Amino acid sequence: MKRLEGKVALVTGGARGIGRAVCEAYADEGARVAVADLLEAEAVHTADALGENGMAVVMDVTDPDAIRTGVKAVEAHWGGIDILVNNAGIFKMAPIGQVTREDYRRQFDVNVGGTIFASQAVVPGMRKRGGGAIINLASQAGKRGEPGGKARRGERHDLLFDQGGRHLHHPVAGAGIRK
Ligand SMILES: NC(=O)c1ccc[n+]([C@@H]2O[C@H](COP(=O)([O-])OP(=O)(O)OC[C@H]3O[C@@H](n4cnc5c(N)ncnc54)[C@H](O)[C@@H]3O)[C@@H](O)[C@H]2O)c1
Repeated sequence: MKRLEGKVALVTGGARGIGRAVCEAYADEGARVAVADLLEAEAVHTADALGENGMAVVMDVTDPDAIRTGVKAVEAHWGGIDILVNNAGIFKMAPIGQVTREDYRRQFDVNVGGTIFASQAVVPGMRKRGGGAIINLASQAGKRGEPGGKARRGERHDLLFDQGGRHLHHPVAGAGIRK
């Protein structure tokens, strides 16, 4: 028996990079995997490579409505979601003097907002199933500054491991959802 046999996973930013590798590894372990990404063609390509265990879901994680629609589509197709991997993320290196308002907003909307609203969308279904797992990617750079990235690197570390980690914890406490 494979370790994820019978499980359904949704991986944000699953079309390429680390997300794609997670999709492939989970499918190898027997999971059915929803490849969720804003890049439709690449998401379909990655999902197709997983055969019947793959499903492409087009979503921009900065749009809570699109996330909810995508989550509902996966739940309708496979009956629920057991694992959410909050992988979608962007990072643009720039010294603090060159950070624009738009860069700042986009980075927070994807990396922080995406993590919050994707988690929010899957928790009700996980509660009904009696549990689940939410896995959040961040970077060691959130703890240790690097030249050129100082203005923007701590945001997910702060969310996931310091203040927000506790905020995310309360709504799922006692529901059997690991994070
Ligand atoms: N690669 C590294 O060295 C590294 C280091 C530390 C942390 N990380 C984190 O790991 C994660 C994956 O990194 P990667 O290197 O594979 O990145 P990548 O750029 O190769 O892939 C990111 C994926 O996320 C998708 N994506 C971006 N914005 C999105 C949005 N708004 N909605 C839905 N999907 C979106 C992209 O289309 C892409 O498929 C990121 O969260 C990143 O911050 C990566």
